[in-house]
Amino acid sequence: MNQEKIVVIDFGGQYNQLVARRVRECNVYCEIYSYKTDLEQIRAMKPMGIILTGGPNSCYEEGAASCRKELFEMGIPVLGLCYGAQLMMHVLGGHVCKAPVREYGKIEVTVDKTSKLFGDVSEKTICWMSHNDYIERIAPGFRTVAHTADCPVAAAECEEKKLYAIQFHPEVLHTQEGSKMLHNFIYEVCGCSGTWKMDAFVENSVKEIREKVGNGRVLCALSGGVDSSVAAVLLSKAVGDQLTCVFVDHGLLRKNEGDEVEEVFGPKGPYRLNFVRVNAQQRFYDKLKGVEEPERKRKIIGEEFIRVFEEEAKKIGAVDFLVQGTIYPDVVESGLGGESAVIKSHHNVGGLPEHVDFKEIIEPLRDLFKDEVRKVGLELGIPEKLVFRQPFPGPGLGIRIIGEVTAEKVRIVQDADAIYREEIANAGLDRSIGQYFAALTNMRSVGVMGDERTYDYAVALRAVNTIDFMTAEAAEIPWEVLGRAANRIVNEVKNVNRVLYDCTGKPPATIEFE
Ligand code: XMP
Repeated sequence: MNQEKIVVIDFGGQYNQLVARRVRECNVYCEIYSYKTDLEQIRAMKPMGIILTGGPNSCYEEGAASCRKELFEMGIPVLGLCYGAQLMMHVLGGHVCKAPVREYGKIEVTVDKTSKLFGDVSEKTICWMSHNDYIERIAPGFRTVAHTADCPVAAAECEEKKLYAIQFHPEVLHTQEGSKMLHNFIYEVCGCSGTWKMDAFVENSVKEIREKVGNGRVLCALSGGVDSSVAAVLLSKAVGDQLTCVFVDHGLLRKNEGDEVEEVFGPKGPYRLNFVRVNAQQRFYDKLKGVEEPERKRKIIGEEFIRVFEEEAKKIGAVDFLVQGTIYPDVVESGLGGESAVIKSHHNVGGLPEHVDFKEIIEPLRDLFKDEVRKVGLELGIPEKLVFRQPFPGPGLGIRIIGEVTAEKVRIVQDADAIYREEIANAGLDRSIGQYFAALTNMRSVGVMGDERTYDYAVALRAVNTIDFMTAEAAEIPWEVLGRAANRIVNEVKNVNRVLYDCTGKPPATIEFE
């Protein structure tokens, strides 16, 4: 595909994916590469522009993440952000050192509106700063185009060479006009025209998949989650009934979820997929009997899932392609993209099946961020309810029930969770909270219902806000919403007499409650 592209060079900053997402939001495709990537490789990609991310080092220290001077001499526009800005100055002959005053948080920045970056930005604008070092002296040929009370160089540029350095973080939403600044770099400096659109993505992918698959047979494990649903519909649009989808109901799904998935993707749904639903609930409950340790539960569920899937695949016979719903953050986080490789141990359902006879894997969403996957889903006409579904772990409620998993406990947590979700939606909070759900603690305590003493379970409610799911803060849900949910749960769900709200962040807790 001949696509205009921006390359993000990652120096280990926590916002690397955010930078790339913001660029994509400007309708320009972009990819993340480690700072160790060979310069020739970058040049060969013919990027329209390069963005250097932040990073944890001091650029003047021995062994700090660095880049070659030639990066700035290729005639390709470069925008350095935070560490990237300091590095640009350092490499080109400016001076970076420890700042007399460390800046952190929202800071008022005064910009020079004659700079291409800031033409339509207010002269005084709130930006997000986070730095210990600062640019004490800019490199020769540059001019300062923004400052703050404590930071003499909040931005600098060499317009002639199309080099731009910004000390703050335009990619973070706290920088109120950050999107404009990135837009200005991408369009005014790099000259992009904005070719990255999801309707074009669908059209191109369908064409590519058709070419690749030919008359081959394709198998897809459908979980009902956003990624696998979008992948399945995309494949079905491309190759029709050469595709078979297998949906394993492990009995650990949210309330009614199995039926909802069947309604959309089953024989009566709009897509006419070859859809196989395997009702394996009891099989999973049997395997989980007496197991309390969370990692063991995860392992059992993952392995059993693969076994069930393999058995079903065997009935179908040899296939040519297996579909995986891998998305771009998975690629980056497994160390193939950027620098800050956080290897996620939890992969959806325990790896690839070993005993399925297939030749090749197809990953149609490999280049997309989650919000883009959702856009593709809408483009394909998948119902909004499915497209905006929250993240849901592969092991499902198995890891939202503390202690042994039983059918009875699954029923309790399903009912409580359904009520909680309903109340959050009624309050109009369902799209603004990152992730929220009910979990079942293993604690039982004394309560009183009517005139009777009860000895029942406590349900825990969780809601977090997060950018990347690596860190998160507990969401501040209005008390009345929590109160209503709690009331309904104890009244409507049998065997629950207490509801607790988890106000811990990640770290030290995790998002899931296992
Ligand atoms: P934790 O609990 O590690 O969760 O803070 C971070 C995010 O990952 C999701 N999660 C999973 N997703 N398979 C998945 O597909 C899993 O095994 C799994 N475990 C956790 C979790 O829901 C949250 O969004």
